[in-house]
Amino acid sequence: MSAPTPALPAAVLHVQAGQPLLVETFAEWREAARDLLVWGVPPEAITWSSPQAGGDLFSSAAAAAEAPAAFTASVPAKNPPHVPRSLMEMLQSAACCRVADRWAFLYRVMWRWQQGEHDVQSPADEDGARLNAMVKAVRREEHDMHAYIRFRERPVDAGPPRFVAWYEPRHDVLPQVAEHFVSRMGKVSWMIATPEASVLWDGHTLHNTGPLVGRAEDLDQSDKDGGEALWLTYYRSIFNPARLNTAVMQQHITSDRWKNLPEGKIVPHMISEAAMGARKIGQAQAVGQRKGTTIPIAPADAQPERQQPTKLDECRRCELWQFATQAVPGEGPQHAPIMFVGEQPGDQEDLAGHPFVGPAGKLLDQVCEAAGVDRDTIYVTNAVKHFKWEPRGKRRLHKTPAQREVEACHYWLDKELAQVKPTVIVALGATALKSVLRSANVTLKNSLGKPMKVDGRWVVTTYHPSYVLRVPGEDAKHEAFSTMVAGLKLAHELLERPIDAPAPE
Ligand code: URA
Repeated sequence: MSAPTPALPAAVLHVQAGQPLLVETFAEWREAARDLLVWGVPPEAITWSSPQAGGDLFSSAAAAAEAPAAFTASVPAKNPPHVPRSLMEMLQSAACCRVADRWAFLYRVMWRWQQGEHDVQSPADEDGARLNAMVKAVRREEHDMHAYIRFRERPVDAGPPRFVAWYEPRHDVLPQVAEHFVSRMGKVSWMIATPEASVLWDGHTLHNTGPLVGRAEDLDQSDKDGGEALWLTYYRSIFNPARLNTAVMQQHITSDRWKNLPEGKIVPHMISEAAMGARKIGQAQAVGQRKGTTIPIAPADAQPERQQPTKLDECRRCELWQFATQAVPGEGPQHAPIMFVGEQPGDQEDLAGHPFVGPAGKLLDQVCEAAGVDRDTIYVTNAVKHFKWEPRGKRRLHKTPAQREVEACHYWLDKELAQVKPTVIVALGATALKSVLRSANVTLKNSLGKPMKVDGRWVVTTYHPSYVLRVPGEDAKHEAFSTMVAGLKLAHELLERPIDAPAPE
């Protein structure tokens, strides 16, 4: 007797009947996509439809509307799909991106993954590039909304909400941004309104209140002469005409943002005042160039002042963030006795958001095992926190970070050192060594296996695990591996050696 055929899920029935699949949320899409994959329904057989309107900033040629291919199913073709967490997180993020074909595109990515095309997650693949760009656009929008939303206080006697904000997000990020403010603003009540939806936090619960009729700015009775006037006074006081770069300013905060910022009303005036000031300063400089004494300035002092971000993901201290999927922070016990410092995240680390999880990480695991040291007791980080790469065919090839990028990232390494306070740092390879010693003139060859004292800690230098993977010849590989094991054993011994004792020979 043959086993009974399982009933067709609703999504598959829809497709068989040639009807569009209406999907509104990521959860709905995920459920439908799962059933469709199990029943082997190919992307071209499905017409997805969604109540959200979308632009086509990220549209691809393949997204052009086509009549769906006919599909009939009688038995499920596949086991339930297994999708790695990193891909599912990317899909969930990309689902917030306002593009007309978002559900069809996400399904195509899932489908290709299921067919074994794991490149589909990589920025070197056409779909992967689009997926990464969508994720990035959504993250950027989340960041912008955190940064540029302005709450206006309402009079106490007007009742809740106490604060209201109006914002026009470019992507569907309101739910996650609302969660952010729930965790930041405590029990005070607030409302965020957008053209598509609004949320109200009553101090205990978040309510979806649907789109508002008219703008929150028109609805609110905020104390414009009080709170907002105070804010504008503060803004004027921190505005520094000498640091003004209008192009960058307009790039960071585009005009659609300015119109909803209270300071948007005073900025044009301040810019024109600054321009007048700059002309005067420019004339003074021309006069100053005629003659006089040369004052030498150290290159470091001539560098533009770098920002001091609080969150790694918001770091713009160098250019690398633009090309990476995300920043990769260090990981491990917050007071680990040993800290590994690598160079920069690789392709897999960039996608996963964790250090040393790719091939170099696997080798590092083997080194730890051979040295009898538990990797979970070590804090593992990199000198540079964003992946630097260049395209090579479908692959993203690692590119060594420039010294200025290493220097820009000292900021984060310093924070990690201050937090973890390791007794021993193990520098994995030349970039890590230069970063840890704050010198571009040190060489791996001269430092290998020789413990040093830096800022009251031991520093041990060894090879980078990628070198072991790369070096040609089995003997050379063995030797490099043994050098790494010896380096780690030495680091472990140094844990017991007072820093004022002489370095072991
Ligand atoms: N190489 C590194 O230097 N760091 C990583 O995290 C991965 C590869």
